[in-house]
Amino acid sequence: MPEVKPLYLPLPAKIEDIIVENSQVKTFVLSFTDQEYGRSFTFEPGQFMMLSVPHHGEAPISIASSPAQSGTLRLSVRRAGKLTTALLELEKGAVVGLRGPYGKAFAMREFGHKDLLFVAGGIGLAPLRSVIESCLTERERYGEITILFGSRTPSDLAFRQDIDNWRRQPGVRCLLTVDQGEPGWQENIGLVTTLFDEARISPAHTALVCGPPLMIRAVLAELSRRGLRDENIITTMERHMKCGVGVCRHCHLDDKLVCVDGPVFNLAQLRNMEVMELA
Ligand SMILES: Cc1cc2nc3c(=O)[nH]c(=O)nc-3n(C[C@H](O)[C@H](O)[C@H](O)COP(=O)(O)OP(=O)(O)OC[C@H]3O[C@@H](n4cnc5c(N)ncnc54)[C@H](O)[C@@H]3O)c2cc1C
Ligand code: FES
Repeated sequence: MPEVKPLYLPLPAKIEDIIVENSQVKTFVLSFTDQEYGRSFTFEPGQFMMLSVPHHGEAPISIASSPAQSGTLRLSVRRAGKLTTALLELEKGAVVGLRGPYGKAFAMREFGHKDLLFVAGGIGLAPLRSVIESCLTERERYGEITILFGSRTPSDLAFRQDIDNWRRQPGVRCLLTVDQGEPGWQENIGLVTTLFDEARISPAHTALVCGPPLMIRAVLAELSRRGLRDENIITTMERHMKCGVGVCRHCHLDDKLVCVDGPVFNLAQLRNMEVMELA
């Protein structure tokens, strides 16, 4: 019998901790029940896992932790439908299935000594968190870090612990915005692009962008207008997935497959495809 690679089999992982980010998002800290496998497990920022809950299906979820944080894996999940609703009801100690990691990662090597701009909307901060945390573990390798994060309302603001931590780090700026303010909100109100002047974006920045399609469209256009090279504007694409490994073609993006050719693409690559985010 040929050996079945663990990469294609869901392996049991225990929920070690749960961080309630807001009413719709929780961050799960997971560890593989096979500790030896867990210790040997590696991934790169930008990759995703296929997460399964018995009887509720499977979904692609970005890895939100840094590879440097070995032993556990963080996945931040927003309630969308069947699987994610079931997952959000689980408690510490429950066991889920994980297979992966899948997909092309961010090219971290190319970011060395560059000023990095992270632009995220909502749950889109999850894959970027993996990059940001990686940069912070080797802080001297990277230039200035600017994080622009948009949420619907202040109550929807997720990743608060991370934001507080990032704001304490030297050479890191984190600006927040919401679509709709609430009493007591002291920061910006408006689309994330309304933070661009305060962020002093320059053509020398390398930008990593992740969020809902409409946000991606507006942000890519504005970064381009401000003179960033297409190769230095990098984003992630979301499409419906089934297999995660390039077989079912559910996740096609023009002539590419998001699960194997992405989810990370730069703007130069996207301009060669028919993509709704650029239409
Ligand atoms: C590479 C990748 C990484 C992702 N990372 C995360 C993450 O870190 N955290 C997170 O919360 N979500 C993430 N998602 C989205 C997540 O996979 C979907 O929300 C999830 O599959 C929904 O499953 P469900 O059974 O709960 O919802 P379903 O019952 O399947 O669907 C509920 C609704 O969500 C829509 N939907 C389902 N899947 C997608 C999708 N892939 N893209 C757009 N809309 C979708 C459906 O059209 C439907 O309207 C990611 C998706 C991809 C492709
Ligand atoms: S999810 Fe099956 S080919 Fe991409």
